[in-house]
Amino acid sequence: MTDKLIIFDTTLRDGEQSPGASMTRDEKLRIARQLERLKVDVIEAGFAASSNGDFECVQAIARAIKDSTVCSLSRANDRDIARAAEALKDAQRGRIHTFIATSPLHMEKKLRMTPEEVLEQSRLAVRFARNLMEDIEFSAEDGYRSDIDFLARVCEVVINEGATTINIPDTVGYAIPELYGQFIKTLREKVPNSDKAIWSVHCHNDLGMAVANSLAGVKIGGARQVECTINGLGERAGNCSLEEIVMAVKTRRDYFGLDVGIDTSQIVPASKMVSTTTGFVVQPNKAVVGANAFAHASGIHQDGVLKARDTYEIMRAEDVGWSANKIVLGKLSGRTAFKQRLQELGVVLESEGEIMAAFAKFKDLADRKSEIFDEDILALVSDESVTAEKEHYGFISLAQRSETGEMPHAEIVFTIGGREVRGLSDGNGPVDASLKAIESQVKSGAEMVLYSVNAISGNTESQGEVTVRLQNSGRIVNGVGADPDIVVASAKAYLSALNKLQSKAERVAAQG
Ligand code: KIV
Ligand code: ZN
Repeated sequence: MTDKLIIFDTTLRDGEQSPGASMTRDEKLRIARQLERLKVDVIEAGFAASSNGDFECVQAIARAIKDSTVCSLSRANDRDIARAAEALKDAQRGRIHTFIATSPLHMEKKLRMTPEEVLEQSRLAVRFARNLMEDIEFSAEDGYRSDIDFLARVCEVVINEGATTINIPDTVGYAIPELYGQFIKTLREKVPNSDKAIWSVHCHNDLGMAVANSLAGVKIGGARQVECTINGLGERAGNCSLEEIVMAVKTRRDYFGLDVGIDTSQIVPASKMVSTTTGFVVQPNKAVVGANAFAHASGIHQDGVLKARDTYEIMRAEDVGWSANKIVLGKLSGRTAFKQRLQELGVVLESEGEIMAAFAKFKDLADRKSEIFDEDILALVSDESVTAEKEHYGFISLAQRSETGEMPHAEIVFTIGGREVRGLSDGNGPVDASLKAIESQVKSGAEMVLYSVNAISGNTESQGEVTVRLQNSGRIVNGVGADPDIVVASAKAYLSALNKLQSKAERVAAQG
């Protein structure tokens, strides 16, 4: 058994399955580059067979990433596996991750297959995958609720066929740490060829125990790979959070005795990038990456930390990248400095036109805001008007009037498929009036299920970052908009959500 813990990041696949968290190809590429800087061992880039868009994302990431293994999910059938292999063809190091459900409930009700059929399909899937690639991961979906003896037979068979990693997910977040740890341990003991594969854990957070369960899977069960996501992003209550698992293993190396290859100074930048890109705001008291994670408010604590920081701090803020939140550019910065910062942030703008558009936006922002932070730059390049991809709805300008005792009124100019339109409306407040002014022209019929405002860099001078979540015909999308004026940010977020609703991309659900 090795003393290295493999960190497998699935932000771009399982994280993206979170309702509203879908990302564009450029956004995924940017996050993949940040994950490479973070030095994660494996990046699960997507589910290539689920849509052409996902295929292109996995392919682009496979071509761009040099240091981490790039992986694609695939169901346990030849078509999915061949599609994954094709998308990963140009990867420096590629991995096919094939899965099938093994719990009685999933096999009977979802797959409508007998256990023997599932066993046979697992065997054939891994055999087929192994002919296309060396690095093969097999996941037993809903593994923790499976019959352990049946699961052991499946694991033995797929290891014999050449699976190199065996993952036992707690798909529905039902596990309790000690029981999950024991389950993995007993399972490994029951599989005669268990030493031929690396064992992996993949825990969902429905009862808030994903990190604790993963740690038990490692400590008690002997797993040497943990599957996790930045900020714990993922379906329902999310996945095991990368920052928590990594810092737990590092901070308590005395107990776990394991090494992780992660560059922890890249954790906070990764967290901010994922939250800005998806619009999933990090709660202030979130471990490691929350805004309060290293803040000391009470006098006794402040006094203690000033005398000796380890009185109340078990990790150093700078070790997880908090100091990276520095002012990078200002009004006088030129194009070269701007381009260089984009490069350092892993942002690749495809054409000179896109760089020019981003730089113009940067200058415009610098006129209104004296200090420009990395988060501002990331928000700015996420803005649809910067990317070459022409969006269906585009913001042009907004005028609104509000005064105590008066009904707020807004007038917005925007484009629909390149045609300029003007919407007018009253509303309960300036934001309400502005969004109603958009709807007066679009008539989407979408229901707003979430609206939130966040100050990007913490004070009133900062840009407001607005997230709007819309639901329409069973689809849920998040739109994000940033601007020093939060009414404008709201209008941009609303248009961005409408653009996502407009895009036709339909996917096959990974757990479908
Ligand atoms: O939670 C789960 O079971 C999964 C598998 C597809 C690996 O995400
Ligand atoms: Zn999962």
